Amino acid sequence: YARRMKRSIPELLQSEQPLVMVTAYDYPGGLHAEAAGVDLILVGDSLGNVVLGYESTAPVTLGDMIHHGKAVRRGAPQTFLVVDMPFGTYHTGVTDAMRKAVRIIQETGADAVKMEGSTPEVLQVVDTLTRNGVPVVGHVGLMPQTATAQGGLRVQGKDDDTARRTLEGALALEAAGAFCVVLEAIPARLAKLITERLRVPTIGIGAGINCDGQVLVTHDLLGIYEGEEKKIARRYAEVGRVSREAIAQYAAEVRRREFPTRENSFVMKDDVLDKLY
Ligand code: KIV
Ligand code: NA
Repeated sequence: YARRMKRSIPELLQSEQPLVMVTAYDYPGGLHAEAAGVDLILVGDSLGNVVLGYESTAPVTLGDMIHHGKAVRRGAPQTFLVVDMPFGTYHTGVTDAMRKAVRIIQETGADAVKMEGSTPEVLQVVDTLTRNGVPVVGHVGLMPQTATAQGGLRVQGKDDDTARRTLEGALALEAAGAFCVVLEAIPARLAKLITERLRVPTIGIGAGINCDGQVLVTHDLLGIYEGEEKKIARRYAEVGRVSREAIAQYAAEVRRREFPTRENSFVMKDDVLDKLY
């Protein structure tokens, strides 16, 4: 399944089937996602958690996102690429946000940026970026960058206050120009309602079956971390276990002098060697 040309936003929006998005953080991640034929790749700031080993996404910098975004793009030149704007990079004024978004687009070759929330400040940024040619993906529901202020990493929209805020936030993001909206960790019925109310597609994670698309963190679907499966994800492989076992087997063979063998070694002519003695 090879695609010849990168799909445009209108082509993505016309898709009959659910949109498929996965995260990627490096060259092989981009390569595998593109070869698998996903519709969109997200260089998520989940980078902080799953690749850089931070406790949250807050320490992730613009430089980190650009560094990893470039690597993903080298692996996935033909797939629609979205890069997250990290914590604190779109809250210091519209001009500053525009400048940073342009850096992401120009330096990584991304097709769009994503940012969390629907505060008046964020909506103003979305409006300015989209009117000036930077496509934006919105993100409501659970928002990891501000989870501490939201009372931790918790499902949002279970009560009528946060449900209304999530619905109105998604509508406001659409009105501000977002071309799609990620719904994270909200009840399935709320996600269905939001999906019916929006003209632009919704992409869910922990938001049920009735979104216009789904996104997963690749490390979750690949099982890179062993241990309990997350409720919102499905593990399609056990890459963590396979990796650990492979490295352990290599270590054992080195210690038993079973690796490398002659097949892994280079030969030279005897007369050349004789001159060294
Ligand atoms: O950073 C990320 O991986 C995300 C997805 C979970 C949507 O924002
Ligand atoms: Na993110």
